[in-house]
Amino acid sequence: MLRHRYCACVLCAAAAVIASYLVLFAAPQRASAQPAKPVSFINDVAPVLKENCFACHDTRKKSGKYDMTSYEKLKAGGVNGDPLVPGKPESSEFHALIVTTEQRRMPPRDKGEAVPKDKAAIVAQWIKEGAKLDAGLDAKADLVKELRVRWKPPVPPKAYPFAIIVNAVAFTPDNKFLVVGGHHELTVWDIADGKLVKRVYTRAERAYGLAFLPDGKLVVAGGRPGQEGDVRVYDISAKGKAEDGVEVLDGVNDKKVLLKHLFDVEDAVLCLAVTPDGKTLAAGGCDRAVRVFDLSGGLDKATLTQTVENHADWVLGCALSADGKYLLTAGRDKTAKVWDLKEKQSVVTFPEHQNIVYGVAVKADGSAGYSVGADKQLRTWKPGGEGKGVKTAAGHGDEVFKVIANPKQPMLATSSADRTVKLWNIDTLAPGKSLSGLTDYVYTVAFSPDGELVAGGSYDGSVAVWKVSDGSTVKAFNASPGFVVKVETPPKK
Ligand code: HEC
Repeated sequence: MLRHRYCACVLCAAAAVIASYLVLFAAPQRASAQPAKPVSFINDVAPVLKENCFACHDTRKKSGKYDMTSYEKLKAGGVNGDPLVPGKPESSEFHALIVTTEQRRMPPRDKGEAVPKDKAAIVAQWIKEGAKLDAGLDAKADLVKELRVRWKPPVPPKAYPFAIIVNAVAFTPDNKFLVVGGHHELTVWDIADGKLVKRVYTRAERAYGLAFLPDGKLVVAGGRPGQEGDVRVYDISAKGKAEDGVEVLDGVNDKKVLLKHLFDVEDAVLCLAVTPDGKTLAAGGCDRAVRVFDLSGGLDKATLTQTVENHADWVLGCALSADGKYLLTAGRDKTAKVWDLKEKQSVVTFPEHQNIVYGVAVKADGSAGYSVGADKQLRTWKPGGEGKGVKTAAGHGDEVFKVIANPKQPMLATSSADRTVKLWNIDTLAPGKSLSGLTDYVYTVAFSPDGELVAGGSYDGSVAVWKVSDGSTVKAFNASPGFVVKVETPPKK
């Protein structure tokens, strides 16, 4: 089970509440003495439709032959034609269906909750004012995209009232700091003392993949689950503002921090891989596609070279051979696959996990592929072979989420729901050290660039850094800024 990792959950609900509070306090309140502004279709009405109607009335589903994802289509209506009578909400079928208590209500009674009264009132007011489109907006414009463009990320809470789910960690090129995915930000921690030194605000609510380019710039793949996903490049060594002894960088607006926006899609980007020479980048996720970029001409000339659609479901992990020839992918469709980037074709499907494959890795020379998954196994196979397993290593007591290759030593690391990180010999899959200390599912793991340290990040916000040589803990801390970890006391009799 992939607990709460990609979906809405209690924690995210908590986060959403905080986010909406922040929005509430940030937004200038409408003064009741002034005449109310007319209702805006795109800012006020479209969000209500997106929330309550698009699940069935979009381009794909078109229930009742009704797609309402552009103003033009909304007005055209479905099998029964235009459901809007401008100026008259009481005669508009569109409004009637929202507020009726009869069986024919929208959303259908057995399929969802009624539209909240205050939201229905917005729709009524908009129809009353003429059901107009905002000036400057094209009637054909895709509303999902328009809403995405208008969306503004909240400022991360100063002190987290919840523990962050750690989905991604990366060591800085000097091996001294750990970058951790936070809530609409990246947090940077000093490994020596476990102290927060820097916060880099991001549009993405969560980071799922982090990779430093050879020039020290940081690539981040992430998004807001179910809403949007993106890959952006940051200079986290740019100058920020000091706030309570922590340097704060604005990676949302400051062009010195946010260097490049490679692409965005309509759902989270879950995995990221960059070749050691920094010339090839691959990122994939919930849209089942992996986008491959050529960065050999530098960031400014970054070009999308191909979009690989090789899986029937979400792409959960990806890896690139050092020469940029092979792209290895892990799928929720229970397979690992290899794509030849030069020939632009699928070469191997590895089906032996027979359950969700969460992660893949590749030996630098491309001679061996590795995959891990819900079957709790680490498996190796040949990227250029027939899709048959070469070796299988059991050892984890629960699902395995990630596998990575050490950049300097013949070693793999895996992270698991069994709360451990394990090290393995990359050639024989003989087990090495088992690293413990984390207290929940270990979703992510990373080696330091010098290959001497390994870090794991967990569902409960805890992060640990170990030495690979003897398995000793260098530092362990909770990577949720300001969060007070509650120690459970046994209930009194
Ligand atoms: C869970 C799916 C679902 C959701 C959510 C949903 N609808 Fe529908 N809608 C349908 C189906 C199915 C039909 C066609 C059958 C019917 O009329 O009952 C339909 C038909 C309609 C029609 C009639 C189209 C025509 O020309 O016949 C309108 C208008 C409509 N919906 C409006 C809405 C609005 C407004 C919302 C959001 C507040 C909404 N629907 C949410 C499933 C849905």
